[in-house]
Amino acid sequence: MPTLIENTTHYVQQTLASAEGGHDWWHVQRVWHNAQLIADHEGGNRLVIDLGALLHDIADAKFHGGDEEEGPRRAMVYLTEQAVDPPVIEAVAHIIRQVSFRKGAVPDTLELAIIQDADRLDALGAVGIARAFSYGGFKGHPLYDPTSPPPGKTTINHFYDKLLLLKDRMNTEAGKRLATDRHQFMEQYLTQFFREVGE
Ligand code: ADP
Ligand code: NI
Repeated sequence: MPTLIENTTHYVQQTLASAEGGHDWWHVQRVWHNAQLIADHEGGNRLVIDLGALLHDIADAKFHGGDEEEGPRRAMVYLTEQAVDPPVIEAVAHIIRQVSFRKGAVPDTLELAIIQDADRLDALGAVGIARAFSYGGFKGHPLYDPTSPPPGKTTINHFYDKLLLLKDRMNTEAGKRLATDRHQFMEQYLTQFFREVGE
């Protein structure tokens, strides 16, 4: 019989089959991997961490008409069908509600702190750069406009509005260490970018 984690992997793969490139199954898999790396140092309940990572973007509000409850609702229905213990379901729903860095929620559980860090790490470094341009393209934003300084719609502005701020907002020590390396790579990237555009 397939395990709960195997079932959940299939459920998420199917649900996100046509998702935007930065919020697809491969994003979820990276976040899951990051969460495991962090949990190796920080501890926490592994079942809640695994399910929280796998289900954290099951129905992101920005792709569902702004409905913040769609994700927790779907996850709760799915996990109830899988006969998961109610306290685990509640902990996972809490993670899905609070993980978003748009909301900037201060985590009140270790498991939420870990998933928030794992999700933020995927917005940093080489992968973070790729995701930012994927999302900007999806929204039809310009790459860069020298007449439009931050804050603003271009993807280069998004680095200054958000991505370069994330390193100082990590919750866990392991998350901070991983973020520092990725942050430095983004700074190098921006230096090269401005050199190439002649600024
Ligand atoms: P969350 O899904 O945690 O709420 P966001 O939706 O803000 O976080 O960001 C998820 C990903 O989408 C990140 O990699 C981020 O860089 C990218 N993204 C979000 N908004 C923009 C934007 N305006 N321009 C480019 N990338 C963006
Ligand atoms: Ni995510």
